[in-house]
Amino acid sequence: MSFMAGLCIGGALEKSALLAEFSDTARLDVQLLLAHVLQKNTSYLYTWPEKHLTDDQCKRFSELLQRRIEGEPIAYLLGYQDFWTLRLAVSKDTLIPRPDTELLVEQGLALLSDGDYCVADLGTGTGAVALALASERSSWKIVATDYIAAAAQLAERNRQTLQLDNVKVLTGSWFEPLVGKFDLILSNPPYIESDDHHLQQGDVRFEPLTALVAENGGLQDIQDIIEGSRAYLQDNGWLLLEHGFEQGVAVCKLFERYGYTQAHTVKDLAGNDRVSLARWLSEGGDRRESKAI
Ligand SMILES: C[S@@+](CC[C@H](N)C(=O)[O-])C[C@H]1O[C@@H](n2cnc3c(N)ncnc32)[C@H](O)[C@@H]1O
Repeated sequence: MSFMAGLCIGGALEKSALLAEFSDTARLDVQLLLAHVLQKNTSYLYTWPEKHLTDDQCKRFSELLQRRIEGEPIAYLLGYQDFWTLRLAVSKDTLIPRPDTELLVEQGLALLSDGDYCVADLGTGTGAVALALASERSSWKIVATDYIAAAAQLAERNRQTLQLDNVKVLTGSWFEPLVGKFDLILSNPPYIESDDHHLQQGDVRFEPLTALVAENGGLQDIQDIIEGSRAYLQDNGWLLLEHGFEQGVAVCKLFERYGYTQAHTVKDLAGNDRVSLARWLSEGGDRRESKAI
């Protein structure tokens, strides 16, 4: 797109027409980009529609609009995504946190109240799940891991910005960095099949395959986590996994195959299977209900 000089705010908002064929949320996208360039909130745009942008603001707005027309996700253009009650920095090293994943957080919070519990978030990405839990449960000790060093650094940066001192971010594959046993393990792992056509559409085209794709029909990482978690869960501890909307039955079967109990699936607000959970009890473990859960 050529540089758009001399724009006023109202004129810049009208540029949403250029985006209409590429985005279902063209008007909102343009509001967010413009507010970001001006470092103001969106209500400012409607209070001062006749105000002119500086040349530098016009240039930055044109560049961002062009990148959005090319399909780049708004979160990457703004540099952040809101998740739960938190504003998280994002990067191209990991997934942009999705509203769907708030169900994983809700279910985790419903399993354990405040108390001296140990919790692990595997494949933490931006830190979304671990940091949301930490913001609600200051007494939990939470470990968050990712095998992409740049993703773990991003999670650590978010942790520091939000000053959530009860989270420790570590780099390594699934259980590699963990020490000890956990009352709750959560993960939103990669679960998309490599030939899924959704990978060629929308925002996911810009996100790393390391965050999205798993072998074995999308179930390999889920299976590895179910198998491996047995050595890291306390007796009566819970494993809670996000998965694709058609994977609930398969995930519950995997839980049963690996000896878990109480496997079940929870639906998201759209009525789709989204999260499955089950409980681990080792052979000879204490079969009384643990006070923890
Ligand atoms: C679907 S994303 C989820 C990110 C974040 N938890 C969220 O919900 O927004 C999966 C994450 O798992 C990480 N991951 C993939 N394979 C992994 C492995 N073997 N060990 C640790 N993390 C892994 C990816 O780097 C990515 O950040």
